[in-house]
Amino acid sequence: MALYSEKVMDHFRNPRNVGKIDDADGVGEVGNARCGDIMKVYIKVENGIIVDVKFNTFGCGSAIASSSMATEMIKGKPIEQALELTNKAVAEALDGLPAHKLHCSVLAEQSIRAAIKDYYDRNGIQYDPAMFPAYDHDDDPHAHE
Ligand code: FES
Repeated sequence: MALYSEKVMDHFRNPRNVGKIDDADGVGEVGNARCGDIMKVYIKVENGIIVDVKFNTFGCGSAIASSSMATEMIKGKPIEQALELTNKAVAEALDGLPAHKLHCSVLAEQSIRAAIKDYYDRNGIQYDPAMFPAYDHDDDPHAHE
């Protein structure tokens, strides 16, 4: 059986939403201390809707595929919905990731959440800090495996 699904390979070879938004309303960057991979997400928000999203990933193929899929899943969606996106949903949308690669999809979930937190902070929007736990762990406390 192939290690990676067709969808993973497709999003790895042709990643969607790669790049940077110069006048982004929120920017989130997270890294995984263990593998050293880094992901940065930019969001543009209008009336509570994520109207545009871009990412840059300095990381493995699974991280690139995960960020491509995750950005597709939140584009055009309300912020509240983007906050509900889990790494599990991203991995499922990719038709699965090998167990030892699930942490790569966690980076996608966390970088999107970090971008939303940045948007809230910039605009003085109140939120429960518990929604945004620290992201600098070297393991995967948020992985829903
Ligand atoms: Fe680090 Fe995939 S191995 S994000």
